[in-house]
Amino acid sequence: IKRVTTHSIQEMKGRGEKITCLTAYDYSMAGIVDAAGVELILVGDSASNVMAGHETTLPITVDQMIYHAQSVVRAVKRALVVVDLPFGSYQGNSREALNTAIRIMKESGAHAVKLEGGLEVKESITRILSAGVPVMGHLGLTPQSIYKFGTYTVRAKEEAEAQKLLEDAALLEEIGCFSVVLEKIPSKLTQQVSASVQIPTIGIGAGPHADGQILVLHDLLGINKTFKPRFLRQYADLNGIMHEAISHYIGDVKSNSFPSEKESY
Ligand code: KIV
Ligand code: NA
Repeated sequence: IKRVTTHSIQEMKGRGEKITCLTAYDYSMAGIVDAAGVELILVGDSASNVMAGHETTLPITVDQMIYHAQSVVRAVKRALVVVDLPFGSYQGNSREALNTAIRIMKESGAHAVKLEGGLEVKESITRILSAGVPVMGHLGLTPQSIYKFGTYTVRAKEEAEAQKLLEDAALLEEIGCFSVVLEKIPSKLTQQVSASVQIPTIGIGAGPHADGQILVLHDLLGINKTFKPRFLRQYADLNGIMHEAISHYIGDVKSNSFPSEKESY
């Protein structure tokens, strides 16, 4: 199988072919996602929410991100594997950012890292890139800054914030990011950004004009019953399917119908 690279993703934008991305955090799920054929798998710090049950992405550590990334990398044969730098591991100074990126690349075998922010993290991104590690940007709603925003509502509706986002996207392209995630911003702004930079934009809650789309795998699969934001399309009801299967198992054990003779030694 031919592996997806940061270059092949950039070529897709040139051809006008949409880029498909999903998150994954473990070996079993990553194998299914990769076999289905998405181009990019993000080991997101959303693992803090969907894997560990935290309310925000802030608590997850570099060691925990590496554990998830190692598991995903072992399963993936084709997709580009990108790993989030967690909160507090790159904002302090660029040397710390580089150290985090190097640890993640070395210890997990992933292919690129992602971090949140524009101008504020310029030095960190530049330093990581100078070590030969591809970097994906992330603008708009950046969940590691949730306590600054106060809510998870749409960002950059006002002109000033939209203008800053356009400038940040241009900056990320200029310093060498291979792509940028745009999270929860108005569709029109996504269109503007996507037209103004050459690097592919990957949207989540950002409308149809991004060069690619990403969703949290567990959201797409309907594993969490209560999380239903407007931007989410649920492609399955795995919560229901799993609940039913497990209830069936419980019933079978209680009624002595599992295991049967044929299932015994
Ligand atoms: O952590 C994550 O899952 C993400 C995507 C939603 C872009 O950053
Ligand atoms: Na993230």
